[in-house]
Amino acid sequence: MVMYYVSLLWFLLFGLCPMSVPDSIPIGMFRTDCHDRHFWLSVDSNFLGHKFRFDVQAGTEIHEVSGQWAAECGYTMALDSWGDLLLRVSYLACLVENQKETEYRLLVWFINRDSNGEEKSYPLLLTCPLQVPWGPRELVCEQNYMEVSVLKPQPPDNHISTAWVTPAPVELGEGLREWRVVFRIPTLSQEGGIREETVPLRMAHLLGYHINTTDSRILLRCAYGSKLAYTQQWGETDVEEVSATILYKLKWTLLTVDMSVACAISLAQMDGSDVLWSLPRDLPTLVHPPFIEKGLKFGVGGQYLSECVAHQRGYMIHDNNRTLEIRIPFGAEGGFIKSHVIDGLYSQSYFVDVFLLREWEDKAWSLTQQRTFRALFIYHLPRPVTLVNKTVPSQREFSISLCCFPYDVSLGNVTVAAQPVLWEEMERNGVRLSQNPFPNNTYLYLFQMPFSHPLISQKYLGDRFRRYTLHGVFSFILFPDGEIYNHSATVEAELQDVVLPKLEGECTVRGVHTLAYYGNIDSSEWSLYVGGMRLDWELVELGGFSLDPHELYLSLEVPLYAPGMAYEGLGLQGLLVSVLVSLVHLETAEEQTHVQRCVFPVRELLVCLPDGRMVVMVDTAGVSPPLNPNHTALLDPACRPLETDNSRAIFSFSIDSCGTVATHDGDQVIYRNEVRNMPPFPPHLRPLSQPQPRYRVPLGCVHPENRNHTLSIYLPSHSPTLLPMKNAQKTAFHSHTRHPEGLDQKMHSLPVGG
Ligand SMILES: *[C@@H]1O[C@H](CO)[C@@H](O)[C@H](O)[C@H]1NC(C)=O
Ligand SMILES: *[C@@H]1O[C@H](CO)[C@@H](O)[C@H](O)[C@H]1NC(C)=O
Ligand SMILES: *[C@@H]1O[C@H](CO)[C@@H](O)[C@H](O)[C@H]1NC(C)=O
Ligand SMILES: *[C@@H]1O[C@H](CO)[C@@H](O)[C@H](O)[C@H]1NC(C)=O
Ligand SMILES: *[C@@H]1O[C@H](CO)[C@@H](O)[C@H](O)[C@H]1NC(C)=O
Ligand SMILES: *[C@@H]1O[C@H](CO)[C@@H](O)[C@H](O)[C@H]1NC(C)=O
Ligand SMILES: *[C@@H]1O[C@H](CO)[C@@H](O)[C@H](O)[C@H]1NC(C)=O
Ligand SMILES: *[C@@H]1O[C@H](CO)[C@@H](O)[C@H](O)[C@H]1NC(C)=O
Repeated sequence: MVMYYVSLLWFLLFGLCPMSVPDSIPIGMFRTDCHDRHFWLSVDSNFLGHKFRFDVQAGTEIHEVSGQWAAECGYTMALDSWGDLLLRVSYLACLVENQKETEYRLLVWFINRDSNGEEKSYPLLLTCPLQVPWGPRELVCEQNYMEVSVLKPQPPDNHISTAWVTPAPVELGEGLREWRVVFRIPTLSQEGGIREETVPLRMAHLLGYHINTTDSRILLRCAYGSKLAYTQQWGETDVEEVSATILYKLKWTLLTVDMSVACAISLAQMDGSDVLWSLPRDLPTLVHPPFIEKGLKFGVGGQYLSECVAHQRGYMIHDNNRTLEIRIPFGAEGGFIKSHVIDGLYSQSYFVDVFLLREWEDKAWSLTQQRTFRALFIYHLPRPVTLVNKTVPSQREFSISLCCFPYDVSLGNVTVAAQPVLWEEMERNGVRLSQNPFPNNTYLYLFQMPFSHPLISQKYLGDRFRRYTLHGVFSFILFPDGEIYNHSATVEAELQDVVLPKLEGECTVRGVHTLAYYGNIDSSEWSLYVGGMRLDWELVELGGFSLDPHELYLSLEVPLYAPGMAYEGLGLQGLLVSVLVSLVHLETAEEQTHVQRCVFPVRELLVCLPDGRMVVMVDTAGVSPPLNPNHTALLDPACRPLETDNSRAIFSFSIDSCGTVATHDGDQVIYRNEVRNMPPFPPHLRPLSQPQPRYRVPLGCVHPENRNHTLSIYLPSHSPTLLPMKNAQKTAFHSHTRHPEGLDQKMHSLPVGG
């Protein structure tokens, strides 16, 4: 099959060449092959000029290969899937030199014109020996024509003694002149009748039928859509048919020969993921039952395929209820893929040049061979890009594959969170991209990006879970047009990897110190509350807080008596206060809290509690002569200290007890009492009247008449008891009286203790 040769008979050609001077043949630009019944000549796409054509020459006759002439004469010219120019010529084509039916020769000129209009001519002498002997009947379904050739009928037996005189294959007018062609055409009538039309050979030629003989064969060829041809539907497929019989007279015998030809003209279509091309198995026009299948060979791009290779590529041929179905997986090797972007979607076109040799036997012909050549194509099939999320969260990186691209597509840029991922920075940031080929000439891209990359967004979900999100746009370039296809993808992964912020506290001389360790999510997602109040600059200023950001933590000091500090109790050890600090996640409302309690030593203090109690600590240390703190009492002498040490006494009582006196003054009420020296009299020394106490500490609390009470803390010597009231001073703790309501509530609920 590979025996072919191209001869450049320079010297010879010069003699008979009436054309331009031949140019020297560039190496590798032409490829010639001899197939069963055809010359194949292909010209490399890179070699093709601005304009080009083929001329064929026999002797002094030269013809340009084009249009109707080419179809009627057995020439097919096309750009194949790869863009190469292909010329396929039947051995029985016009101008082919038939060497005793064993070798065929054709002189072809390839004429290439560049953009300057300069023409170059390359002569190619194609010579093909006949490899496969001619069969009794051979049909060709080409892209542009149908051809049938049959062995010339033998004369009937009773003429066997008579010398067979071949009708000389000469010009019309001699032997062929008397030939008649009978065309049968189905009528459109209901009955399905058949109309016959008998025309002389000359007329058939005018109708577009090339009819001729060789030494051994009779030939009929016509373009598709010729007059007297008709189209029929067989099952799913359309078939064009010419039903013809040639009558010719040999001596005194009238010989008839069936020259019908039929070709499937249906286009390929998609069926699932396959390109499906169907053709009828045994057309009544061509088959006289019984029909016996003798062989089937399939090829693409000019090569027969072994069953093994066809199987490997996923090609399938099968007989489905008298329809031959040929299936080629879209994009399979052997064809050609072209990528497109249509309305922002990725799509592909697929082209595959197939040919099919079928052989059968029937009642009329011991062997019929039918060769079919078809360029199958599927245009603009949407090919959704498959994104596979291969992320394993514990590996702390996104891993995405995008599949499957043919070689005319290349990944240009990746944009994450609307920022380009720069190739030169990829490695430094741990981003990786690889291109992995598949055996079927496609490949996938694998893109990997660490969760920690600044372009990856994070969201805290609560319970230490965090969601990482990659919003990516993958921009592909399509060659050769440079079209851009953008594929957007959003991939997420969740991981329980959050280190929550941590709070710690300590007591200082000035107040309560809290450290807020940041943890590993953005500190701006948390808000800090002190004693239930959101920490802002106003609060920092008001409370005289000191706030210091450090590398690992934020330090906050709340001074004694500042807002945010809660009263817990008063005892001999001192004033017990607490600071509740909390961090609240803005979205999940998840809370971290810490309460730091501190005791500040005090010697004297008056606390007016919102629940209407007064707690007071007095110090008798400076009193002269010294007195026993055990011997102090309130206005009601029965109200004795709760606790004492050697100089101090603590009382805790309700404003409606222990002899407390309430005075209304405008919209407020002043509650007064006092701590006095009240030594117990021995029962035998009880005086008639109470002596004037020599130690008196007045106490006073002011509460609004109708509104809720608030907490106030005073030095007893400054309590609002000494008249006139306007002199009453809340001492150093004045700001404390401006506690927000909520805080007072909290203090209210706390027990007094120490
Ligand atoms: C018919 O064939 C003969 C030789 O076989 C050839 O000389 C002649 O040109 C052919 N006729 C046509 C119309 O091609
Ligand atoms: C086969 O095709 C014929 C005619 O096209 C139809 O009547 C018949 O039902 C088909 N058989 C099957 C199995 O599809
Ligand atoms: C190529 O092979 C890959 C992997 O086997 C497959 O996913 C893809 O669909 C194939 N593509 C074509 C066009 O056959
Ligand atoms: C990739 O980015 C560069 C620079 O930002 C730009 O010039 C180029 O057109 C982009 N290519 C694609 C395919 O988006
Ligand atoms: C593709 O995406 C890039 C980055 O988001 C953008 O700059 C470009 O305009 C897009 N191109 C098309 C054709 O959508
Ligand atoms: C991707 O993979 C991760 C981890 O297996 C999974 O959590 C996530 O739901 C997947 N899908 C998308 C669209 O991100
Ligand atoms: C006060 O009384 C308590 C018990 O009632 C006693 O323990 C304490 O010593 C007394 N303090 C003084 C200074 O007398
Ligand atoms: C006063 O206190 C009561 C209960 O303690 C509370 O329900 C009410 O809201 C408070 N009123 C004001 C004005 O704060």
